[in-house]
Amino acid sequence: MNRKIKLISGNANIELSKKIAEFLGVDLCKVVISRFTDGEIGVRIDENIRGKDIFIIQPTSPPAENLMELLIMVDACYRASAQRITAVVPYYGYARQDRKDQPRVPITAKLVANLITVAGAHRVLALELHAAQIQGFFDIQVDNLFAAPVLFEYIKGKKLQKLTVVSPDVGGIKMSRAVAKRLGANLAIADKRRTAADSSEIMNIIGEVAGSDIVIVDDIISTGGTITQAAGALKKAGAGRIIAAATHPVFAGSALEKLESSPIEEVVVTNSIPFVDTGKCKKINVLDISPLLGEAIRRIHTNESISNLFD
Ligand code: R5P
Repeated sequence: MNRKIKLISGNANIELSKKIAEFLGVDLCKVVISRFTDGEIGVRIDENIRGKDIFIIQPTSPPAENLMELLIMVDACYRASAQRITAVVPYYGYARQDRKDQPRVPITAKLVANLITVAGAHRVLALELHAAQIQGFFDIQVDNLFAAPVLFEYIKGKKLQKLTVVSPDVGGIKMSRAVAKRLGANLAIADKRRTAADSSEIMNIIGEVAGSDIVIVDDIISTGGTITQAAGALKKAGAGRIIAAATHPVFAGSALEKLESSPIEEVVVTNSIPFVDTGKCKKINVLDISPLLGEAIRRIHTNESISNLFD
């Protein structure tokens, strides 16, 4: 790999950063991330990065310190005269507040885009943004990768019978359709109504699922409410085996307990966010997304096509 490339990792997902570095055959740049006594974050880049092509790897999953750390690292690189700074954000937090659908609410997806841009990033490499239009919230270049090929390869090996891919809501149809197309499977949709910011209800299953094995595909599992309710509704409608596949394992609140007691047989996620196995759910299977991110970084660095990755 060209010596001009430098990978910098924040603390949010060091294991993923190490795997990406290994994929690219480079070392992670020496960086000291420290805390002042009052909790403020300090960053010092311990190598000369003047004129380098910098990729800062940091999912902005909770806590908000992860986002702050990313912003401070971008600022440090900018002030150290990096030639180009790409914020590699395998999980883009605060994405779900992406429109003003009630009076007096923020659009945090846009706020975070502004913050990353103002900090000094020249481009963003994201994975499975909650909504594709978030790309337009940035006035810098954004590459939005899809986990579908990684999920697809794994699901293909499961040898499921009469397979139907289910999107747990209308917003997820595009992602589910991409997986269904590659698997030659049918597509069905759960009719989800959001009852509050963090809770929802599945009203109906639209499509034929009786007697079919199911893969429910979603971008995020947060509280687990959406995916477990969809699984319950699918079982009621006569579905066979159910597997859940999601890109980002946020697993908030009692998500793991909910998944464990649900009719879902296996929950397949990626390592965009670290999953700490507490033993609460024995169904979690983490797929490695680092080769996809590593290859995208390589292509950005060498000005090759990213869309070719998904042909
Ligand atoms: C919603 O639009 C997303 O695609 C996910 O379905 C949702 O964020 C999952 O959240 P939870 O696990 O809390 O239901």
